[in-house]
Amino acid sequence: MNFIKAKDYDDMSRKAANIISAQIIMKPACVLGMATGSTPVGAYRQLVDWYRKGDLDFSKVSTVNLDEYRGISREDPQSYYYFMNENLFDHINIDKANTYLPDGTQMDSQKACDDYNAVIQSMGGVDLQLLGLGHNGHIGFNEPGIAFEKQTHCVNLTERTIKANMRFFLSEEDVPRQAYTMGIKTIMSARKILVVVSGEEKAPIVREAFFGPITPSVPASVLQLHNDVVVVADEAALSECTGLV
Ligand code: F6R
Repeated sequence: MNFIKAKDYDDMSRKAANIISAQIIMKPACVLGMATGSTPVGAYRQLVDWYRKGDLDFSKVSTVNLDEYRGISREDPQSYYYFMNENLFDHINIDKANTYLPDGTQMDSQKACDDYNAVIQSMGGVDLQLLGLGHNGHIGFNEPGIAFEKQTHCVNLTERTIKANMRFFLSEEDVPRQAYTMGIKTIMSARKILVVVSGEEKAPIVREAFFGPITPSVPASVLQLHNDVVVVADEAALSECTGLV
């Protein structure tokens, strides 16, 4: 694993956006794996900025997102579909027909997941997968204990994740209890993986996931086995990795 140290959140965002830009410039028709959550927002903002300046062209890019809540419509402001439009797709020249997320309105879980696996396969796999890191080591919605062999599947969210996501909803009751997520096997199939992490509260899990034992109880620890992972983390997130990075 390669670690890139950033000073703070803005620096992390710029450095991560640089890696994504390099991917698009080197392969204009690339497949990007996207993430939601707070961490990638700054990188998306930076990409929009470079697009506006004429430095980036998304016209041939395709995207697949990591996950989507089950039982939520695309128009729902809490859907990841909405998030991606709002934070990135509405502001760049990507063809929205080439942007994919699991279908949160498909209540037949098996079909939703099979369809999504087929989409990823038909695209020839993911060139660069962006990941945030959950406090409990989750990636996508792959919570502790998940089998590493899984492709896209339906998960029950843990209490901790529901509480962490509550900040985006009016109340805890409004947070969906299930989601469709790329599995660990899907994530590990990406040719390159870019993890973004910021903030002191992530420091313990950064150390545990990337320097501790590889175990399903810390899903992100599996990334140690991938041959092309870059972690862009700010000083606060790396504060418990002194001497290791
Ligand atoms: C988002 C996702 C999640 C987040 C993780 C970190 O699509 O799948 O795994 O990446 O929960 O979230 P933030 O960045 O909000 O700390």
